Amino acid sequence: MSGPIPWRLKCVECDTMHRGDEVRYRCDCSGTLDVITTLAAANRKPLLETFDARRSSFIPADVSGVWRFREIVLPLSPDEVVTKGEGNTPLYDASSLQDFTGGANLRLKHEGENPTGSFKDRGMTVGVSMAKKLGCDRVACASTGNTSASMAAYAAQAGMRAFVFIPEGKIAFGKLSQALAYGARTIQIPGDFDAAMELVERVCVDEGIYLLNSVNPFRIEGQKAIALELMQDLRWSAPDWIALPGGNLGNNTAIAKGLLELRDLGLIDHLPRIAVIQAEGANPLYTAWHDGTDVQPLKANTLATAIQIGAPVSWRKSLRGIQSLNGVVEQVSDQEILDAKARVDAAGIGAEPASCATVAGVRKLIQGGVIQPNESVCGILTGHLLKDPDTVVRFHQDQLESIDPGAAANPPVASDGTLEDVRRLLR
Ligand code: F0G
Repeated sequence: MSGPIPWRLKCVECDTMHRGDEVRYRCDCSGTLDVITTLAAANRKPLLETFDARRSSFIPADVSGVWRFREIVLPLSPDEVVTKGEGNTPLYDASSLQDFTGGANLRLKHEGENPTGSFKDRGMTVGVSMAKKLGCDRVACASTGNTSASMAAYAAQAGMRAFVFIPEGKIAFGKLSQALAYGARTIQIPGDFDAAMELVERVCVDEGIYLLNSVNPFRIEGQKAIALELMQDLRWSAPDWIALPGGNLGNNTAIAKGLLELRDLGLIDHLPRIAVIQAEGANPLYTAWHDGTDVQPLKANTLATAIQIGAPVSWRKSLRGIQSLNGVVEQVSDQEILDAKARVDAAGIGAEPASCATVAGVRKLIQGGVIQPNESVCGILTGHLLKDPDTVVRFHQDQLESIDPGAAANPPVASDGTLEDVRRLLR
């Protein structure tokens, strides 16, 4: 790489600064790293006008809901980026769920409506663009499915070889099929996501393959764009709360970082609070938060396979962000997740199970008096409904162990194919 680059990497544990143009995921002390970008003193109005103007540009990097904010995300030039036009996701009015959540002012930002069907595309466009800038032609990740689907697609577009490490039998079919289809070498590991994560980090360092899990600090920079785009959607006025699911804890880390940077630049005048929702069977952050301890790894088990993670890599950064935003951590059961999913789906919005932990968590926090019924809440839906069709079909046919679909069950009904019988079914 030639010429000075305007960012450096700072250790979250010991504050040591590292160069921004070396392949490095951790400090020598093993702490994870933050990208620190030297931003020119922002002039609020021109910057916001630029962000708005780019929405109607014909340059792919301008239209991207990540690179449109490149001054804050990562100042690469438009011709350096590998983009699929990610972002620009809808912000649905979900006030029709009021009878379920108890809140009158819920909106849902649907990150599942990204090019590969999950929020991961925002981090991946930056991760793969950095891989290209650093001259890497092989990339790898461990995944519960969405990261691998996204990485496989962006790597293929950039002409890179992709290696994905997945926990055997524990990822939803939609996601596995994407990794295979986009041509990634898909390595199934006996064991869970946490085992795959540990392995891939070692393999990447040993073999000189570029690691694209969220331990890679550039992934976090891209992921920040959820917060940036949400604030642009809301005309730079923050809601009372942002709620999202937590697994490996990269996303809430990124959203907090993005919001704090917007506040520091004077682009928003107040910060929202953040609510991170974990599945009861995969709740190491929830436990640490409530006990005031470090995160203790556990064996994770939840139907929301995307967040079936017991040893989250980014927990320290994540806690720091939650504290800065006066946030909370909540947990919800699989039954609560699937009840919420049935409502999100039936509202015509639709999302994969892990995403719906968001809505289940909002409901629980309103019931518990933490979120007030009239407060404005923006929930993040992280993955598309079609990522996990198996769980949907089994839910509606009452075939999921220990889950009761109740009145939400909508199984297919059989007909003998005669007009008379079909008429009977329409009644
Ligand atoms: N929701 C979905 C749909 C996910 O795929 C993930 C994480 C999360 C929420 C949690 O986000 O890890 O940033 O706290 N999926 C990763 C993967 C682990 O491999 O696809 P997080």
